[in-house]
Amino acid sequence: MNTVLVTGAAGFIGSHVTEKLLDKGYKVIGIDNFDIFYSRQIKERNLINIIQRPNFQFIESDIRNRENFRTICISNKIESIIHLAARAGVRPSIVDPTLYISVNIDGTVNILETMKECGIKKLVFASSSSVYGDTNTVPYSETQNTDYPVSPYAATKKACELFCSQYSTLYNLNISCLRFFTAYGPRQRPEMAIHKFVRHIVNELPIEMYGDGTTARDYTYISDIVDGIIASLNYLSGFEIYNLGESSSIPLIKLIRLLEEILHKKAIVNNLPMQSGDVHFTFADISKAKTKLHYNPSIGIETGLQYFCDWYKKENNVQV
Ligand SMILES: NC(=O)c1ccc[n+]([C@@H]2O[C@H](COP(=O)([O-])OP(=O)(O)OC[C@H]3O[C@@H](n4cnc5c(N)ncnc54)[C@H](O)[C@@H]3O)[C@@H](O)[C@H]2O)c1
Repeated sequence: MNTVLVTGAAGFIGSHVTEKLLDKGYKVIGIDNFDIFYSRQIKERNLINIIQRPNFQFIESDIRNRENFRTICISNKIESIIHLAARAGVRPSIVDPTLYISVNIDGTVNILETMKECGIKKLVFASSSSVYGDTNTVPYSETQNTDYPVSPYAATKKACELFCSQYSTLYNLNISCLRFFTAYGPRQRPEMAIHKFVRHIVNELPIEMYGDGTTARDYTYISDIVDGIIASLNYLSGFEIYNLGESSSIPLIKLIRLLEEILHKKAIVNNLPMQSGDVHFTFADISKAKTKLHYNPSIGIETGLQYFCDWYKKENNVQV
């Protein structure tokens, strides 16, 4: 099997994808710069199960360093790239849009330029459900309008999709952009709602509920996201966009109640107004991924939350 380059390999999704690729017999080069969005210690821990594996090499590098990136691709004869490295997070992107433009857009264009120069033909790019903006047209389908993102983060993901499409056309590259719908599971980023809520409920700290609890998200369990990513790697043809979600939308208040049940603890809820940049609803139409990639998400929210809480308790020696 050829060698796959995974950017953002020390992150939440990147560490899971890398692990699965190694299990399937791929050789993997993982790149990450341990960006300070959250702690390096957590990211090093994400790598703990894979760092010693014989088919894995980790390189600490910034995707914006073109020369380094090019050298890594050439010396490892890279034929395909899974590009997950990014500044994630909607709300912080409103505070520092320039940084998001630099990491997400400049970083992605660097990768596309390197592909062009080195003759690398295959790319899977991590896009986001946030490109749909705050729309009432549900479920979200890949064909609907995405011209109105409501945060700089979403705008960078939309811009990256456009660059991917343009490079695919001009240079005959096979690129799939995957719009992930709120991924969760072990190693989820610590600032994301499920991880933060569990941490706060367990430690009897208030949780912040923005809006009246009716905002809803399509939560996708990490193993389903990983299966979708690897399926798309094996089915790259021209330029495509796919939604990867569970195709069910869970209101925030229901999410909190489910966590209370699993953790046997009441949440202390601090009600706050909705934040700018947030959307009311996400809900994926996954029929395209089902048909073309045989994507078939199988972990429902109750099971997924139970798995997450089990992992959290083990990681943090919690006896609840
Ligand atoms: N987690 C989700 O629910 C979700 C939803 C939609 C889209 N996405 C996208 O999926 C991808 C992975 O998300 P995640 O939740 O695993 O985030 P994450 O922050 O855990 O992982 C991203 C990784 O990229 C690395 N990185 C950041 N800037 C870099 C740079 N300049 N050079 C090299 N590495 C860099 C970070 O250090 C981090 O380890 C991101 O592109 C994100 O935008 C995630």
